Amino acid sequence: MKTVSVNTPSKTYPVEIGQGLLEQAGHKICQLHCKNVMVVTDSHVAPLYGQKVLDCLKAAGLEVSQFVFPAGEGSKCAETLLALLNEMAACHFTRSDAVVALGGGVVGDLAGLAASLYMRGMKLVQLPTTLLSAVDSSVGGKTAIDLPAGKNLVGTFYQPDLVLCDIDTLTSLPAAEIANGQAEVIKYAFLKDASILELLHERASLEDMIARCVAIKRDVVCADERESGLRQLLNFGHTFAHSIEQNSGYTIPHGSAVAVGMVLITRAAVKKGLCDASCLKTLLQVLDECHLPVSTEYSPDALFATVLSDKKRAADSITLVVPRKIGLCELQKVSLEDARTFLQLGMTGESV
Ligand SMILES: NC(=O)c1ccc[n+]([C@@H]2O[C@H](COP(=O)([O-])OP(=O)(O)OC[C@H]3O[C@@H](n4cnc5c(N)ncnc54)[C@H](O)[C@@H]3O)[C@@H](O)[C@H]2O)c1
Ligand SMILES: [Zn+2]
Repeated sequence: MKTVSVNTPSKTYPVEIGQGLLEQAGHKICQLHCKNVMVVTDSHVAPLYGQKVLDCLKAAGLEVSQFVFPAGEGSKCAETLLALLNEMAACHFTRSDAVVALGGGVVGDLAGLAASLYMRGMKLVQLPTTLLSAVDSSVGGKTAIDLPAGKNLVGTFYQPDLVLCDIDTLTSLPAAEIANGQAEVIKYAFLKDASILELLHERASLEDMIARCVAIKRDVVCADERESGLRQLLNFGHTFAHSIEQNSGYTIPHGSAVAVGMVLITRAAVKKGLCDASCLKTLLQVLDECHLPVSTEYSPDALFATVLSDKKRAADSITLVVPRKIGLCELQKVSLEDARTFLQLGMTGESV
């Protein structure tokens, strides 16, 4: 087992990564001094791991309730959030009780938001069961639901008290969900540590790979918990990815969109002389090995139109995350016109 300690200005907590951690969740959660716990999970994860978690929490002497909602991004909405909050009130939860998020990023974001809102904040434990939630969404404290007007428009910064990542749960993930998470792993490799790429397909290195990604996210989040600067680095590939997702009406999975987004910004960086062509070559190769896409059918104009509606953009500029080499990216605040140029350079021609 590996432990990454996260020390943000608002909270310090451990992220434990290893095998058999669901079975140990009971006594580890008891150490948070709570009495009642609400296990929040979705309709795919509940039949796989719900009972195991309920049993071990009960065996540890905790009072346990369960809230299950239909799997999928569509459930990350105000209706599910309110239903969960009402359920907690019906069970007489107090601020010292805990929400346990068992599932992927959808469960984690929704349960995290509920934990931050109920009585202005209760305890929160993340039990991530997708590769994406293991390396990304369960750590760092961003919570959210979607509005009809857009994704993640309502949310809070609220760090968990404990994250237990049981890598045994990843064995039941469909291949497409593994690829989704691998796109984020590749993102971390490009941000800080090229050697992570060597671990991508090594089952024996899964624990190590997740721990190294979490440590990178930890370092960035601890330096900038509320995304006023450095934390934007985690958006490598994401600005253009969000446009691709939006253009597809969210039918293209996030990981696939991020894969293409990383290719576009890296190809543009190569053409602008900001990074070496070998960087793009490696990126295309690793994405291909993970069966992730490397190009998009949308036009630069269609994508740029949605870049303009990016919630992270300022009035007349946008911050792009530009690769300089594998393991080093930098923030570049550019005018909207320059952002359009980046996009066009990234899309024109498959070669460099
Ligand atoms: N808070 C953050 O910092 C942050 C970061 C990145 C993404 N996100 C959010 O995370 C969400 C995406 O997360 P995700 O990719 O984990 O999606 P998800 O939670 O929808 O999970 C993907 C699918 O896998 C299923 N599943 C989960 N665990 C499983 C398992 N062990 N075995 C079999 N099936 C399993 C789920 O039921 C779902 O159908 C998005 O809503 C995104 O906005 C948040
Ligand atoms: Zn992402």
